[in-house]
Amino acid sequence: MPGLSKYVDPMRRKLIAGNWKMHGSLAANAALLNGILAGTDAVTCDVAVCVPAPYLAQCKSLLSGSAVAWGAQDVSMHTSGAYTGEMSAAMIKEFDCRYVIVGHSERRSGHAESNEAVGRKAAQALKAGLTPIVCVGETLVQRESGATAEVVLGQLDTILGAISEQDAARIVLAYEPVWAIGTGKTATPDMAQEVHALIRGKLVERNPAAQSVQVLYGGSMKPDNAGQLMSMPDVDGGLIGGAALKVDDFLAIVRAACAAP
Ligand code: 13P
Repeated sequence: MPGLSKYVDPMRRKLIAGNWKMHGSLAANAALLNGILAGTDAVTCDVAVCVPAPYLAQCKSLLSGSAVAWGAQDVSMHTSGAYTGEMSAAMIKEFDCRYVIVGHSERRSGHAESNEAVGRKAAQALKAGLTPIVCVGETLVQRESGATAEVVLGQLDTILGAISEQDAARIVLAYEPVWAIGTGKTATPDMAQEVHALIRGKLVERNPAAQSVQVLYGGSMKPDNAGQLMSMPDVDGGLIGGAALKVDDFLAIVRAACAAP
């Protein structure tokens, strides 16, 4: 039921992760990262940026020792070998990344990534000591036909099938309704809470320790809606696209996360 959670865990910190997608340049990133650093020296929530792979070295050099973690946006499902253009989890780990996004809807739709592939990517990330930010979410047609729960839980079920019970407590989940990504349309707090609670239930079913997993909302999260979304008991932060590219907007969302219950 919206607004209620059986699995309230006061130790769960909020996480705000920026997904820069294919944006940036060395100069623009330096300005953005320095701005983020200036506003995050005393944060009480987790903060991260997931950047295009060529900029991981820049993140390592600028962000090491700060409160801001960094990560990549995709990883190969293979360990090594003849996979032109792919990056292994071990390679990403060499840049001291904490996170890697797997299964973003833009990868699912643009690169035909299946849930099986996403599960294997998550498993590779975990094996290398990275925390996968596993994305799930329904399309507008699926929501309008009443299939949201079935779609999201089906995605999660297959992905969890590829990782161990223990590892199910070591991931981050991101609920990103496809119709809300980059559209300015946002799930209402109740809509988000309803799906987040279902996700939490499925995680906890796999491993009771997974009640500590951060379940993020993504899809047009902005400074003006972030506080309300994160006031819901199972919304543990956000995976932020467009607003992560603007220092003031990103920091406003970080402040909303730190202030949220
Ligand atoms: P927007 O915040 O631009 O809607 O993007 C969300 C997203 O896809 C984050 O991964």
